[in-house]
Amino acid sequence: MPLVTSKEMFEKAYAGGYAIGAFNVNNMEIIQGIVAAGKEEQAPLILQVSAGARKYANPTYLKKLVEAAVEDTGLPICLHLDHGDSFELCKDCVDKGFTSVMIDASSKSFADNIKITRNVVEYAHDHGVVVEAELGKLAGIEDDVNVSAADACYTDPDQIQEFVEKTGVDSLAIAIGTSHGAFKFKGDAKLRFDILEEVGRRLPNFPIVLHGASSVPQYLAEEINRYGGNMPGAKGVPEEMLRQAASMAVCKINIDSDLRMAMTATLRKYFNDNPSHFDPRQYLGPARERVKEIVKHKIQNVLGCSGKAFN
Ligand code: G3H
Ligand code: 13P
Ligand code: ZN
Repeated sequence: MPLVTSKEMFEKAYAGGYAIGAFNVNNMEIIQGIVAAGKEEQAPLILQVSAGARKYANPTYLKKLVEAAVEDTGLPICLHLDHGDSFELCKDCVDKGFTSVMIDASSKSFADNIKITRNVVEYAHDHGVVVEAELGKLAGIEDDVNVSAADACYTDPDQIQEFVEKTGVDSLAIAIGTSHGAFKFKGDAKLRFDILEEVGRRLPNFPIVLHGASSVPQYLAEEINRYGGNMPGAKGVPEEMLRQAASMAVCKINIDSDLRMAMTATLRKYFNDNPSHFDPRQYLGPARERVKEIVKHKIQNVLGCSGKAFN
């Protein structure tokens, strides 16, 4: 089976009240950990590559690794560009064989966001590739862009129909209070489910995407802190809120920080317990296993997409 787009995944997820996990990938061990979990759970997967990941790993290597994962698992896997910030970057990913791209022009004016997104949609659709866009601004850090909480803003439901009609986009990321990174909330977690509900009403059967959706497990933060790390106050989106979002219009849930924490916690403990080891296979193996564990947990307890690969 070749790489697939997210079209059919989202149709089934919307109808079934579950979501597909979109996991950020940067190297072989992360990809292997994610797809091993997907294989055991028979879950469809979206593997996403940020501009930073492209810079780190080279998109050609990542594409080949993801193709190897498809060959090895037989799973439906979509290869997606995360937070593309220009037409050129999206075009390059389309040309390199990605099956989905995100154009994130959410920092631009409404009119410019429409214009840039429309250009990407025209090119991508001509090549059989689907497009995600973003309306509203999430707080947090992604590559070089750091949106402070004060500059973040919720998605305005009054804008979404016009945006989707004028751009022809296939899915839409909205801002309802999540943010990127491992420090999402100072006090209680609060998501604007009223906005999500209104978006679902105004765009029936249209797949919505939730970025910044790591739940930041406390046991991982504690493990990182215990072995010399520094993540006091780390806090994510409670899993029950993510489950609620997945039962509504949200069909794609983006997770990166939780995988980073799982790897970091494992490596910190490993080097603490085995100071004389220096074979990368010895420490990357357990880190890969920990990625698999957390992805399995997400599939079973947050996304609800276990057994949905071919159903
Ligand atoms: O949205 C951001 C993702 O976590 C990717 O992070 O841009 O540092 O690769 P990155
Ligand atoms: P987290 O930082 O919550 O994992 O979000 C990742 C993300 O949205 C990638 O686009
Ligand atoms: Zn994101």
